[in-house]
Amino acid sequence: MQIESAVSLKPYNSFGLPAVAHTLVRITGDADVRRVVDHPQLGRSPKFILGGGSNIILTRDMPQVVLKVEVMGKRLLEERADAWVVEAGAGENWHDFVAWTLAQDHPGLENLALIPGTVGASPVQNIGAYGIEMKDRFESLDCVDLLTGRTLTLNAETCAFGYRDSEFKRSLAGRVLITRVRFRLPKPWQPVLGYLELERKMTETGTFTPTPQQVADWICAIRRAKLPDPAVVGNAGSFFKNPVVTPEQCRDIIGRDPEIVHYPMPDGSMKLAAGWMIDACGWKGKTVGRAGVYEKQALVLVNRGGAIGSEVMTLALAIQESVYGRFGIRLETEPVVV
Ligand code: EPU
Repeated sequence: MQIESAVSLKPYNSFGLPAVAHTLVRITGDADVRRVVDHPQLGRSPKFILGGGSNIILTRDMPQVVLKVEVMGKRLLEERADAWVVEAGAGENWHDFVAWTLAQDHPGLENLALIPGTVGASPVQNIGAYGIEMKDRFESLDCVDLLTGRTLTLNAETCAFGYRDSEFKRSLAGRVLITRVRFRLPKPWQPVLGYLELERKMTETGTFTPTPQQVADWICAIRRAKLPDPAVVGNAGSFFKNPVVTPEQCRDIIGRDPEIVHYPMPDGSMKLAAGWMIDACGWKGKTVGRAGVYEKQALVLVNRGGAIGSEVMTLALAIQESVYGRFGIRLETEPVVV
């Protein structure tokens, strides 16, 4: 196990924010985690788990031991009558994994193509897009307890997935390190095409029974058209969650702003489009310091070049205040702010 000191985290976070890890250890398997747990100094130190860095805002240097997850490998674990079960190491790039499942003819993750980040981070915030959430395809995961070094297998119930949420953001935060995730891809494959932008693609191309690869290509085109590529413009995807309100609150807001974009949720509550609200407050394309609001999607904050974490958070606070002032809604940040 190699212990690295004073490591710049700028290349390891998709917003491109500067921060230094006092100590960094690369984790390639469960045994590496056990070595850290048993280490005389590192074992007792606070730890921070770093995946692909696509969902964090770094506002300061990291005194904790940064565990950079680099567990690799992907395989078909089991073929059942009604599903394929595939497994990937937590350090695998998410999109490469999705592309691999399609190449192997194990479809089911295509709506989640091109989401930045790693496989290991996907359960933490229960990534979702275009009508599918990770939890809809989740089978189980392995993680290592950072106090005991024991490997545990957790099912969906224990992970308690919610909208951009899971137990890994609550009681398990900083307590376990996810090493492998397994997904159940139902057979026969059924495309999920209910999203308006996908319906538009079907009409445009005249293809109403697309292949899984066709759906993946559409998703990539839709995302590229409105979300910035982190390799070109630093960002962390959606910066705020879409707020969920009661039907009464929603009616009240519609009374004042009839155009507000809203969706009914299965439990009767209403989800409001935070991007629409931020846009309505006039933020789209604006810049504050070296941070800005993306021109094509107001829910995404971007690094205009050389931004530091506190500039991003100053902009985020100003947006939260104006949305609260106009709609009475407090927007919650989606990435983890460190
Ligand atoms: N809208 C505006 N102006 C904007 C942005 C959005 O009017 O600047 C309107 C759109 O026209 C649309 C509505 O708001 O009517 C919703 O916008 P969009 O369809 O782009 O989706 P979103 O709710 O902003 C969510 C996810 C995305 C995911 C898309 C597609 C969250 C926080 N974000 O965005 O996830 O790709 O739906 O499923 O739930 C991410 O989490 O990083 C992410 C990109």
